[in-house]
Amino acid sequence: MKDCQKIVVFTGAGISAESGISTFRDKNGLWENYDAMRLASIDGFRDDPKAVLDFYNARRLQLSKVAPNHAHYALAELEKKYDVTIITQNVDDLHERAGSSRVIHLHGELAKVTSSRETEDDKCIKYYPLNLPICIGDKADDGSQLRPYIVWFGEYLRYMDEARQEVENADVFIVIGTSLVVYPAAGIVGYARNEVPKFLVDPSSMEGHLPYGFKHIKAKATEGVDSLINEIKSL
Ligand code: OAD
Repeated sequence: MKDCQKIVVFTGAGISAESGISTFRDKNGLWENYDAMRLASIDGFRDDPKAVLDFYNARRLQLSKVAPNHAHYALAELEKKYDVTIITQNVDDLHERAGSSRVIHLHGELAKVTSSRETEDDKCIKYYPLNLPICIGDKADDGSQLRPYIVWFGEYLRYMDEARQEVENADVFIVIGTSLVVYPAAGIVGYARNEVPKFLVDPSSMEGHLPYGFKHIKAKATEGVDSLINEIKSL
């Protein structure tokens, strides 16, 4: 593959699993042990804000204790030769910490907080220390209750159009570690042009739901990423 071509990578929870962050829908995944609709929806936050803040404070604290893995670093390394955009459903910042410079977060970022009145008001979106809990009574700059900058079920995905355009312009498209069941994010795989090489790295068999035209590298992210890079080099 020629230098400077555009690689777009779409990642999900699986890429951070080997860093110690649970996925959502695998055996023992987060949504097996917690109620997603109570803890990750705007209605759940209105009903019981403390329970939702406690849940995200625990996830923020956990994120402060983990580190990127080989898969995050290998994707960052690709920037030395190619124009790379990462589109992630993950709310962790492990791609950035590994050195990726262009990361689009479709579902928000645990490292940031925002207003509970106007979630996408840029004046209220701020980095907030991961080890500092967000408490009832803490205020955003507009005076509303502070909340994590997470896109909950029932909320709008601000960066979806931008992400879709990136996929449409990709010369190579890669998917890593996502069950592809949460929409609209998962719909992004349908926007890659027919002729571009497409790879999917995931240890599951993807039986019945491997998207059309993808070569499946059936491996964990940290192992599959090396085969993936060999594939890219040989294009
Ligand atoms: P899921 O938990 O639905 O899927 C995780 C995927 O990662 C599965 O396909 C696993 O086979 C795969 N996997 C597990 N271990 C892996 C490893 N070591 N390497 C590579 N892949 C591995 O997670 P997502 O698809 O990311 O949204 O979930 C999508 C959204 O659902 C999340 O962003 C979150 C959740 O509700 C919100 O919170 C808004």
